[in-house]
Amino acid sequence: MTSTLITNIAELTTVDAENRTLHGAAVVIDGEDIAWIGSADAAPAADGQYDAGGRAVLPGWVDSHTHLVFAGDRSAEFEARMAGQSYAAGGISVTMDATGAATDSQLEALVRQRIAGAVAGGTTYLETKTGYGLSLDEETRHAQLLGRLHRAGELDAVTYLGAHLVPPGQDAESYTDLVAGPMLDAVRDHVQWADVFCEHGAFDEHQSRRVLEAARDVGLGLRVHGNQLGPGPGITLATELGAASVDHANYVNDGDLAALAATWERWDPGSRTGAPGTVATCLPACDLSTRQPLAPGRRLLEAGVEIALASNCNPGTSYTSSMNFCVTTAVLQMELSLSEAIRAGTYGGALALHAQHRVGSAEVGKRADLHVLDAPSAIHLAYRPGMPLTHAVYRAGRRVH
Ligand code: NIG
Repeated sequence: MTSTLITNIAELTTVDAENRTLHGAAVVIDGEDIAWIGSADAAPAADGQYDAGGRAVLPGWVDSHTHLVFAGDRSAEFEARMAGQSYAAGGISVTMDATGAATDSQLEALVRQRIAGAVAGGTTYLETKTGYGLSLDEETRHAQLLGRLHRAGELDAVTYLGAHLVPPGQDAESYTDLVAGPMLDAVRDHVQWADVFCEHGAFDEHQSRRVLEAARDVGLGLRVHGNQLGPGPGITLATELGAASVDHANYVNDGDLAALAATWERWDPGSRTGAPGTVATCLPACDLSTRQPLAPGRRLLEAGVEIALASNCNPGTSYTSSMNFCVTTAVLQMELSLSEAIRAGTYGGALALHAQHRVGSAEVGKRADLHVLDAPSAIHLAYRPGMPLTHAVYRAGRRVH
């Protein structure tokens, strides 16, 4: 194992339990992990050294919601939306057809390219999901591809989203039987999580519950796409079933808010012990691209709900993997402070993937996932929106960008 001293850090945002920001700091990486953090003056020697050159360093982004297995283009649908048409889940079937026509090697190359794009933007812990297969064979093919990348350490978490859309021409109940039965059996060894799009036009509460309960029974963790396009049962279903995360959460009523907050009552954010509640994962790039109201991040935080920010990279509603953009938007448009937005894009995502003991903050013992900005302080992310601020990225102790 080799060690590296990262020195000359103008500002280190730790996102630790005290939310410390250190100035004139240094970090020692040993193997995959952070071995030491402190003042640059007191830094121990290491095998190698990286001079951060007076830049700011943050924990790498944790992107807890992406859909990277797809082929094809939906820019015309996007353009129509910008001209006033509203988003409908049916567009998913356009991607389903294009993806079905791609060969295994084409799909693998596309996914790899997208992972590389995310890493180049500072993302060091990445979830992605199936959901554009929507038949037994295609969902299995996508799950196998993602399972391989996960075993190779290129992806950190894989989610089964057979319940993304009822394929055109099929009966919703029979398709739900397939998703909760033979399809789940075929994919379960390749994934860690199961998700369902619980929304008008996709899966209703009863169908969503059937899929989630079947997934829970085979040991998968649960996540829900809910309350994206209007009020609905997604949030309360997610809290009732103990899902790790409910994603989108654009339409949140007082009952939804109370149900989410109740899941966090036993969580001590200081000691960070106990089982996390249900994270509300906000997807601001998607909200802008679909012209939905931005998720109410401020209201959720004030109610005591842990939130995450994620890119939702997909061809229909959010064709970006830029977490810098999402965090910037949260500050500029969602009334989050910089520190709240950074926490949501790092530790919040880690909570949403139950990975908070390993990633999501810069602390001794955690995986050395670090994002060096080409700026002296992290506020530059919001102060200079859209500028190419990612200078260097370390993932599991290795420089990857
Ligand atoms: O998270 N909401 C459902 N699924 C994706 C969009 C899928 C698509 O339109 O292709 C999302 O936004």
